Amino acid sequence: MLFKSFVALSALATTASAALTRRVTCPDGNIVSNQKCCFLFPILEDLQTNLFEGAVCGEDAHSALRIAFHDAIGFSLNKNVGGGADGSILVFSDTELAFHANGGIDDIVAAQTPFFQKHNLSAGDFIQFAAAVGVANCPGAPRLKFLLGRPPPKAAAADLTVPEPFDNVTSILARFKDAGFAPVEAVALLASHTIAAADEVDPTIPGTPFDSTPGIFDSQFFIETLLVGSQFPGTGPHQGEVASPILGEMRLQSDFLLARDSRTACFWQANVNSPTFMRDAFEVEMLKLSLLGQDISTLTDCSDVIPVPAPVQGTAHLPAGSSLNDVQASCSLLKFPTLTADPGAATSVAPVTS
Ligand code: HEM
Repeated sequence: MLFKSFVALSALATTASAALTRRVTCPDGNIVSNQKCCFLFPILEDLQTNLFEGAVCGEDAHSALRIAFHDAIGFSLNKNVGGGADGSILVFSDTELAFHANGGIDDIVAAQTPFFQKHNLSAGDFIQFAAAVGVANCPGAPRLKFLLGRPPPKAAAADLTVPEPFDNVTSILARFKDAGFAPVEAVALLASHTIAAADEVDPTIPGTPFDSTPGIFDSQFFIETLLVGSQFPGTGPHQGEVASPILGEMRLQSDFLLARDSRTACFWQANVNSPTFMRDAFEVEMLKLSLLGQDISTLTDCSDVIPVPAPVQGTAHLPAGSSLNDVQASCSLLKFPTLTADPGAATSVAPVTS
């Protein structure tokens, strides 16, 4: 079962990396495979300069990824809960921002709306394009695919499509399954929490990161979620929060449980010391997420407009002051990788402030 899940993921990865072969020179000198994509370069420039503050892997890049998930997951294979990656969260924000799970999304909706209004992209395209560009600013991240041509959304998504940090593993996996994602795929998507912070779980400490390196798409998130926790960064515990191993770090109950549950623990551990596997699996699942509810035959592949991210910085390690004895290894099938700790005494993690 475990092996079959990994094989399925690799097969998808091969499909997703099929090369774009044609070459067209845009009026501004950029080279792409399809002329229809040329108009995206000035939008890319505007987003990098004015939304992502000079191509930084900061709060707006992180939030651009989060909103892409919250928009797309408004989809079900079994009932009508929304149009998936259709941009409904931007267009019908009055409705969707009232949903509890969308707490904190109002900031990125406010930040993105002027750019959405200025540029000639559908809301679904805008959200997925901004996410791919924002993620590209994070060293170690995949170069996400971007397909152009989603029609405007027809209606708001229904409530309760977005998982909450206080949900149990059974209900989280059921929600992902209902949207078409197996447990191995859900874990792959959670690599997103390596470039993430919470504003709303404990509102007294906005920007509290989920790992010690929120500006790098590395595997520290998968490692640090498996460590014994002893402290809350602010005034916790709050709903959906469990004790964290590092001062200044926030740990979601959902991440804690998924890291240890027998249905997901081996997939979780597979990411601990395999940055290439983690990056490629995330790329594949982000493509699938970005196409939920969409007719792929009508879309144009503009992936070559997305910048190539810098390589990952650093190697997988334990935080200073910890050891392998602090790891709650939960996969019974695979030995936990041998990692060493950073030298020195335990340190704290700074909040993500911009
Ligand atoms: C079990 C599923 C998930 C749960 C329960 C969950 C929950 C959360 C919560 C509670 C926050 C903090 C919100 C706040 O307090 O401001 C958060 C942040 C974030 N989530 Fe998730 N999430 C899940 C899956 C995902 C997925 C699949 C993605 C993307 C593919 C994603 C991307 C992010 C990002 C990038 C942030 C940080 C946003 C920022 O720093 O501004 N999450 N998530």
